[in-house]
Amino acid sequence: MDKTELPTNVGEDSISEETKTLIFSLPSYKDSIGKLYNYQGCWYYPNTLEGVLNFQRGFKPQGTDIILASFPKSGTTWLKALTVALLERSKNRPSDDPHPLKTDNPHGLVPFLEIMLYSKSSTPDLTRFSSPRMFSTHMPFHTLQAPFKEDTPCKIVYVCRDVKDVLVSHWYFKCIYLNKEIDKSVLEPMFESLCREVGYFGPIWEHVLSYWRGSLEDPKHVLFLRYEELKAEPVVQVKRLAEFLGCPFTEEEEVSGSVDKILELCSLRNLSGLEVNKTGKTSNNLQHHSFFRKGEVGDSKNHLTAEMENKIDMITEEKFKGTGLKF
Ligand code: A3P
Repeated sequence: MDKTELPTNVGEDSISEETKTLIFSLPSYKDSIGKLYNYQGCWYYPNTLEGVLNFQRGFKPQGTDIILASFPKSGTTWLKALTVALLERSKNRPSDDPHPLKTDNPHGLVPFLEIMLYSKSSTPDLTRFSSPRMFSTHMPFHTLQAPFKEDTPCKIVYVCRDVKDVLVSHWYFKCIYLNKEIDKSVLEPMFESLCREVGYFGPIWEHVLSYWRGSLEDPKHVLFLRYEELKAEPVVQVKRLAEFLGCPFTEEEEVSGSVDKILELCSLRNLSGLEVNKTGKTSNNLQHHSFFRKGEVGDSKNHLTAEMENKIDMITEEKFKGTGLKF
């Protein structure tokens, strides 16, 4: 496929001489898209690594910043939409039109630090962000924390999801951007890479654990959410998110059904039906519609073999043993 059609973050055309020198010293491996390098325990394509390094060199956190973190395909888009809707509600009610979520995709409203904002420079212009600034990331916690020196000054919300569903979601997503049929020949190497603990932003288990530990150590600054809990008890979880962000629902809002209205605005059905999400692309060349599919818990059962599921479950059990974390 034409390289220019791939998401820009998986390429290698915008790295500096400094990064070129650094990557010679890093562990690497090649997948069907390109070469990945292991930096601080996490695998990146070169352009993303450039963004990570730029971020670590130049990001100046503000105490009011909100950073939404996740492993790819864990519910990032949903978390972004919910956070925007919660923080916007003093200015824009969910029923308002225009509303930021009706005119832009959640990834345009809460851009990725390493993939979008810092992809080309360590001093991007962030003046368009008003307080509280909202950013997102797929970096693991220790890499995100590097510019924070000792303490985390801002609020970080992490969403995690069952590894098997993440794999299936990623498979569909990858087939879309590679312009391929949904084919098991794409899934199988992805499964192998996952189990070998290689793959973009992987290994997933260390990623999840980095934020899990961060949330246990500093619950005031790091909130750990689960996709499955958001699906099972959305009202409880959204209220939890609002409290953490410092914008709890008032009694009046609760009575007027504000939580349900936010949930409806941010539902997969509503967001995926909006014109802005049916058309258009993110700044790193991904089609907006590719972020919305089924949004079901346990969809892996429909696609993975029992052996695949068992193997992933066994690794997960082993990795999470003694951490207090379970899927
Ligand atoms: P599926 O592929 O299982 O359907 P991310 O946003 O991290 O890229 O994750 C994408 C996954 O979240 C996809 O899962 C997608 O359908 C689901 N998703 C996107 N928007 C959602 C929403 N508003 N509510 C629930 N799930 C959503």
